[in-house]
Amino acid sequence: MVELTLPKNSRVTQGKIWPVPLRAGELREYHVYRWNPDDATNPRLDTYHVDLDDCGPMVLDGLIWIKNKIDPTLTFRRSCREGVCGSCAMNIDGTNTLACTKDMKDIKGEVKIYPLPHMPVIKDLVPDLTQFYAQQVSIEPWLQTSSVTPEKEWKQSHEDRVKLDGLYECIMCACCSTSCPSYWWNSDRYLGPAALLQSYRWIIDSRDEATGDRLDNLEDPFRLYRCHTIMNCAKACPKGLNPAQAIAEIKKLLVERRT
Ligand code: SF4
Ligand code: SF4
Ligand code: FES
Repeated sequence: MVELTLPKNSRVTQGKIWPVPLRAGELREYHVYRWNPDDATNPRLDTYHVDLDDCGPMVLDGLIWIKNKIDPTLTFRRSCREGVCGSCAMNIDGTNTLACTKDMKDIKGEVKIYPLPHMPVIKDLVPDLTQFYAQQVSIEPWLQTSSVTPEKEWKQSHEDRVKLDGLYECIMCACCSTSCPSYWWNSDRYLGPAALLQSYRWIIDSRDEATGDRLDNLEDPFRLYRCHTIMNCAKACPKGLNPAQAIAEIKKLLVERRT
């Protein structure tokens, strides 16, 4: 087995144990990854105690409570608090998921939180998603047509519309791509499950007329074929989508058009 020695400055150290809040009710212990690019120090795991009597039930509620009541420097993304925007994706209790829809009750013991894995970290729980978004753009996720534009709208039968179910709901949270081992090792060349699911969403849209070009763009040993059907992506998706299946369908279409 290959043994890798990590650089010393990448090791996560024991961080600060923040004081237990005064007059607290039931407490929940949070262990949270902290790293600030402005400090010349290693990442660390800070310990906080969240007062459940003063806080909502979700993991994100706990983080917001910590930021408001204990440590305003704690940095994380969030917006909708409804599982819609995808901003609060992080690694909680060993799984990539959305902090706003993850109930603290579903976690045994301490709540352990890290940023999404294998992404550069900007600060604390905020990953750099520049490449992830560039890959989404590269598959051109918009309707492309060459026919004369209809007067009112591009029509679609109910049957064709239903084919988009399980695809259009993607919120681009990146939980799937950052749980995919192939993406970890080849994220510069492999598009990853999120972008490929999105690509398939447009390939099978009955109104789109760029199907051939879209498939040409994926016919590449890296962009598509690094998927080895490990299925981590489907397990991680907080919206219950199945990128692995979408990828398999794209591969099938590529085979079919060769025959
Ligand atoms: S099925 Fe493919 S995309 Fe999904 S985790 Fe596995 S290798 Fe990655
Ligand atoms: S497929 Fe699921 S996990 Fe992947 S980006 Fe979309 S919503 Fe997030
Ligand atoms: S805050 Fe929008 S998905 Fe969690």
